[in-house]
Amino acid sequence: MRRKLAAGNWKMNGTTADLAELSAMADAAVRGDAEVLICPPATLISAAKSAATEIAIGGQDCHAQSAGAHTGDLAAGMLSDAGASHVILGHSERRADHDEHDDDVRAKCRAAWDAGLVAVVCVGETLAEREAQNTLDIIGGQMAGSIPDGATGHNTVIAYEPVWAIGTGKVPTTDQIGDVHDFIRARLERRFGAGVGRSVRLLYGGSVKAGNAADIFAVSNVDGALVGGASLKAADFVPIIEALN
Ligand code: G3P
Repeated sequence: MRRKLAAGNWKMNGTTADLAELSAMADAAVRGDAEVLICPPATLISAAKSAATEIAIGGQDCHAQSAGAHTGDLAAGMLSDAGASHVILGHSERRADHDEHDDDVRAKCRAAWDAGLVAVVCVGETLAEREAQNTLDIIGGQMAGSIPDGATGHNTVIAYEPVWAIGTGKVPTTDQIGDVHDFIRARLERRFGAGVGRSVRLLYGGSVKAGNAADIFAVSNVDGALVGGASLKAADFVPIIEALN
């Protein structure tokens, strides 16, 4: 049985004052069965963990190496030391803004596992790729390239985030989401075996809001959401958490 997961990616948003939003999210986590994860900017990880122990806290990226001369970067062990239990890897904004490729994501994933973090690995197609009917090829390629051998339901979560749906208010149809999630599940089962393949949680991400969450969560193989804009305020995120329960 896969535990549902409501994950929030605060991206480059949030200062100390915004941690006040976490208490209502923590209350919602305690009321329900779903796991709640917030990935704030790294500057807030430690304070966020202290402010809301009922919520899992994650980073948004890590370096592939455990230490060294890499100005401005953070090692997975540093995130863990600050209180993180998860790290988002391979988000399309990292792939686009920092020229990250599948092999980078794969190396970061290994580093995250070595530090005891759960890797939330993001995959997703652009609009051009969807219009060219290449969605499943793209997703399959990203999975093969980004996820190392050794993935399990304990160390890995996969987030399907169509690039064209992120922050745009555009959402794929539930059939389109279901097709991709079923494909991801089948690929996981083929590569890692049925037991492991069925244990990895699959999140949908891209313009998830209180108003569309229940429909999305009813889709086969959707185990939760990775939410951007609507995770910043408790008033927006709590209904999404509740829709999972
Ligand atoms: O990682 C979450 C994200 O990319 C989706 O963002 O703002 O469309 O919910 P948003």
